[in-house]
Amino acid sequence: MTDEYVLEMIGIDKSFGGIHALRGFNFNCKSGEVHVLMGENGAGKSTLLNILGGIYLADAGEIRIHGKAVRIANPIVARDNGIAIIHQELSVCKNMTVAENIYRGAFPTKPPFDFIDYDRMYYDALALIDGMQLNLDPDARVGKLSIAQQQMVEIASAISKNADIVVMDEPTASLTRHEVESLFQIIENLLRENRTIIYVSHRMEETFRIGHRVTVMRDGTYVGTKKTSETTTDELVAMMVGRDIKDAYGTRSFTRTAEKSLEVRNFTNEKLKNVSFDLYKGEILGFSGLVGAGRTELARAIFGLDPIMAGTIKVHGKEVVIRNPDDAIRHKIGLVPEDRKGAGLVLNQSISFNLTICVLRSFIRGIDVDTKKELEIVDKYKDILSIKSSGPDQKCRELSGGNQQKVVLSKWMATEPEILILDEPTRGIDVGAKKEIYDLINRLSAQGMAILFISSDLPEIIHLSHRAIVMSDGAIMAELDAQEEELTQIKIMNYAIGREEYDG
Ligand SMILES: Nc1ncnc2c1ncn2[C@@H]1O[C@H](COP(=O)(O)OP(=O)(O)OP(=O)(O)O)[C@@H](O)[C@H]1O
Ligand SMILES: [Mg+2]
Repeated sequence: MTDEYVLEMIGIDKSFGGIHALRGFNFNCKSGEVHVLMGENGAGKSTLLNILGGIYLADAGEIRIHGKAVRIANPIVARDNGIAIIHQELSVCKNMTVAENIYRGAFPTKPPFDFIDYDRMYYDALALIDGMQLNLDPDARVGKLSIAQQQMVEIASAISKNADIVVMDEPTASLTRHEVESLFQIIENLLRENRTIIYVSHRMEETFRIGHRVTVMRDGTYVGTKKTSETTTDELVAMMVGRDIKDAYGTRSFTRTAEKSLEVRNFTNEKLKNVSFDLYKGEILGFSGLVGAGRTELARAIFGLDPIMAGTIKVHGKEVVIRNPDDAIRHKIGLVPEDRKGAGLVLNQSISFNLTICVLRSFIRGIDVDTKKELEIVDKYKDILSIKSSGPDQKCRELSGGNQQKVVLSKWMATEPEILILDEPTRGIDVGAKKEIYDLINRLSAQGMAILFISSDLPEIIHLSHRAIVMSDGAIMAELDAQEEELTQIKIMNYAIGREEYDG
């Protein structure tokens, strides 16, 4: 690490209409460092990075690269200045191949006509993928890959550009532990080449593990910069939220009753192998496992999004057939999906549209939509999860990543389901809001809601679940009970990697 600044952003100001997203913000980086950027949802992290990437122009302020002032008018200027950005929301093209996505915007060509050199692209991509220890076929269509794999393609693309400054906006939000480890390895290699990493994360352990310095922002303003070796989690949290957060996971009450809300038997399809389990009224049932273990597929099958080849399902003791989400909603089942951009939200519509889309039917009186009821719902859920916006009419596209996630969550709460499936509900959510979501989950279960809680965050599973099921390769490996004190990280990890017996 040297003392010269590779990048300085000085007095950056940015407003969107009435929202003042950045106020005189200062930020700088050195070569060979990982500089972590932290702040609550909507604090302005992505906005700052979008300005660096030439997506937005700042209203005021200066950007210097190696001491020289530059005007980053568009993404091409950013690239020419050695900046590569891995955006928070995936921007891969789903119907292009892995190799095409990696070299998007800079395809290798061959003389004399400068046609795209597909062979070279394939072999360059393969070399890059191997170097990153990813198990991907350069010719595979990206749309067929898991979200985590798509994310890795995005990272490969940024690295292929040989940029000096690699920006990662919440790169690990959809990765599992194993994939996070490969990413950290990649980061170490980049550091060895003296490059700079700007890293946005809501996860403290990552910040301390790979970060050299951390800058905290709140409401678009600069709070401070610390060396990670000279600060603590408590200090950073206090800087971010301006208060202490005690008892991060809330209080779990063992409200599980003997009454079964959901009985799944022998669910089998392309991904699932004979999956059977019960979910009780008032229970929080955690689902743990590696990416690709089949948890999302199970959620989709229960909710009627994917067909099953065999199996039965009982809701409150009665056998039902769920062919599509409408059937599921009628049986009072809700699903908060993993992929908020694809399945969770209509980005071009307002917060109130998205919040009420599922319940709309219940309050259309005659031909008029009951606007009073609509506003009531919007008001209630906006407050419960403190969604940060300019108002209910703001388009979801304009919300910060974490606030979009809160809208998806609220939308399903509003249907008042008796059985709620949550697929990675706290992904991309800041520390303060996570606590709100944990409290909400605890409260809903205490009120009798049966909750199926899928998460790749082990501490979260351990602290919230009454019981946890571990899946591997489409099958259930184990069922662990919190009250029997069976719920430990080591046990879960061992079952997750497919070990049948574990008694450590
Ligand atoms: N295109 C836009 N139009 C209007 N407002 C916007 C736009 N982009 C961002 N904002 C607003 O600017 C503020 C900062 O958002 P930003 O996305 O930078 O937050 P963030 O720190 O990245 O949050 P998160 O952790 O949730 O990703 C938010 O209030 C957001 O609603
Ligand atoms: Mg963001």
